[in-house]
Parts: sequence; structure tokens; C-alpha cells
Amino acid sequence: MITVNNLQKYFSINQRQQGWFGALRGLIKPTQTVVRAVDDISFTVQRGELVGYLGPNGAGKSTTIKMLTGLLVPSSGELQVNGAVPWREREKYVASIGAVFGQRTTLWWDLPVIESLKLLQHIYRIPEPRFRRNFAEFRELLELEPFLNSPVRSLSLGQRMRADLCAAMLHDPVLLFLDEPTIGLDVVAKQRIRQFIAHINQERSTTVLLTTHDLSDVEKLCKRVMIIDHGRLLFDGALQTLQDRFGGKRELVVDLAEAYPTVVVEGAEVLAHNGLRVTYQFDRKVVSASELIGRVSAQYRIVDLSVREPEIEATVRRIYEERLLDREPATKGGRGSGA
Ligand SMILES: Nc1ncnc2c1ncn2[C@@H]1O[C@H](COP(=O)(O)OP(=O)(O)OP(=O)(O)O)[C@@H](O)[C@H]1O
Ligand SMILES: [Mg+2]
Repeated sequence: MITVNNLQKYFSINQRQQGWFGALRGLIKPTQTVVRAVDDISFTVQRGELVGYLGPNGAGKSTTIKMLTGLLVPSSGELQVNGAVPWREREKYVASIGAVFGQRTTLWWDLPVIESLKLLQHIYRIPEPRFRRNFAEFRELLELEPFLNSPVRSLSLGQRMRADLCAAMLHDPVLLFLDEPTIGLDVVAKQRIRQFIAHINQERSTTVLLTTHDLSDVEKLCKRVMIIDHGRLLFDGALQTLQDRFGGKRELVVDLAEAYPTVVVEGAEVLAHNGLRVTYQFDRKVVSASELIGRVSAQYRIVDLSVREPEIEATVRRIYEERLLDREPATKGGRGSGA
């Protein structure tokens, strides 16, 4: 569905000079700096996948999405989406995709929501029965009813996002690009949007590429994630692989049947020991959870136990901060391919 090969996007910007001498020199000859927003990225996405595209601020996520949606022309590299080169065949191409940019609406600011949607029906030449069917479905799923007649400018952020999502899906696109669709929303509004994304992916097999800073979006929706930073792909694989390889230490909490003077077990560290409850910390590279549970239960009588995974949030933060993956090339493409 999406094939990206060695994609690059550079921006030339005029660097402002420091001090009066620099300013003077800048007047004569402005200094150009090149920002490598997307710097040699390759991946493929299969039909029906729902992929999270993650990275810190300025990583190059939106720039990638803009190239994929045909809004920006790549500096170099190859790009094919749904059989088209987005920027070259823009008109034909946009009929097959939908896009929502959390930062700005694609609807008409002064028009009531319903009028905006009807306008889109004409622009995309959506036949009346199909429009009615889709609109009825999305109106219910996204709970658009209360604000259908309000102008877009008067909507709350959550309402606007729901209207935008409906607008993006009315013409049955096979692909949906979402650039921070839950930005600035409260928990309830986020939940509604996530349910909608999951629904269209499952029921309509719409392929979805999603950027977000909210990792619970990713946890709830995406099996596969790509992580970029400084325009480069750091990781491409299953969310679980990411967690397994970079999740750091896990914890095993055990409730003992009786008190023991010592609770030491090989391969794990005792993090806390309060009465009958023991918390072990262990490294997945040293011992697996089931091995450790085996060892503990061979030595002590236990009533209950649970394994605590580190938060996905902490894992990803560690990757951004330490650039753990710097030394390893990212695995290319493939649905949920492990790295
Ligand atoms: N039109 C532009 N002109 C110059 N530089 C740009 C332009 N668009 C983006 N950049 C730069 O390219 C880099 C990547 O920007 P991009 O918007 O793709 O990041 P992002 O991953 O979407 O970040 P965020 O999470 O903040 O939305 C940044 O350094 C940004 O300043
Ligand atoms: Mg962005």
C-alpha cells in the first residue's frame, strides 16, 4: 500500500546572524542552513495495517506525512502510495486517501459542519446513496448530532476533530493519514477517537498511518510502530518487540503463603520485602518471567503473583533520550516484523 525508498526532504533556511557584525554580513550574504527533516527513510506498509509513526518534536513525522499525502515534494528518494506517486498525480491520488491534521482543520471555518460535509460530497463526487450511508454511520460513531448545524469555528477541539474525521472518511478512502488526531483532547474525547480509528481499520480494512505523542493511543491501536528521530528511522517493528528489547527491567510481585527469613532467588534482585509480599526486579535478557516464577515457587510457597511491565511511555522515552537504537540499522518494512 505504501512503499518508501530512501526518502529525503531537506529545507533550506536563512540562518539569522548573531551580533551587529553578523547582521551586517547577513545583509550582504544571508547564510543558508539545511535542515534534514527526513533523512533517508525506507519502509513499506501493507493493506489493512494500522501503524504508529512516533518520534520527538521536530523528528520529521509531519514532513513525512506531508510527502505521503502529496502536499510536499520529496528532495530525493522514491515514494509510492496506492499505486500513485502522491505529488505527481495529486488530483487522482487524493480521491483515494483521507487525512486529518490535528493542528488545523480541513473544513470551512464559517460553514456549519453539515454544509462542509455536503460540499465535500460534491468535491469528491460521492454518489448520494453512498454519502447517506457513510454519513449515517459516522454521525452515530462520532456523535456528530449535537453540533451538525454549528459553524466549524465555534466547535470545541474534540468536536472539530470528530467532524474532521468524518470529513476524511466520507469518500471511502483506502488509506487514512492521521497527524496527531488526539492532540489536546481530554480522556473521553481521546477514547471516542480511538474507537473510531479502530472501527474503520477493522470493519473497513482502511490502512492507517498515525502520528501521536500519546503513547496510550499507540498501545490501544497499533501492533506495529516506527520510531524516527532527526529524520532517521530508529525502529520499525512490533510494539511487543520494542518492549521486549528495550523495555528494561521488569518486576515480579509475589505474595508468599508464609514468612521466610530470606527470599533470595537466582537471577533477580529483591527490590522490596514487606511481610508476605516480595517484589523482585529482573532483566528479561537474564531470565524470563516463567523461569523466574519457576525458581521462586520451587523455593517458597506462594499464594499469588503478578508480572509488571515497564510502561511503554518509559521505554520510548529511554529510546529518545539514549538513542539506544543509534548503532543498529532499523529493520525495513514488513508487517510487525521484529527488529
Ligand atoms: N517548511 C519548513 N521549512 C523549514 N523547516 C521545516 C519546515 N517544515 C519542517 N521543518 C523542520 O523540519 C524538521 C521536522 O519537522 P516536522 O514538522 O516534520 O517534525 P514533527 O516530527 O512533526 O514534530 P512535532 O512532533 O513537533 O509535530 C524540524 O526541524 C522543522 O523545524
Ligand atoms: Mg508534527
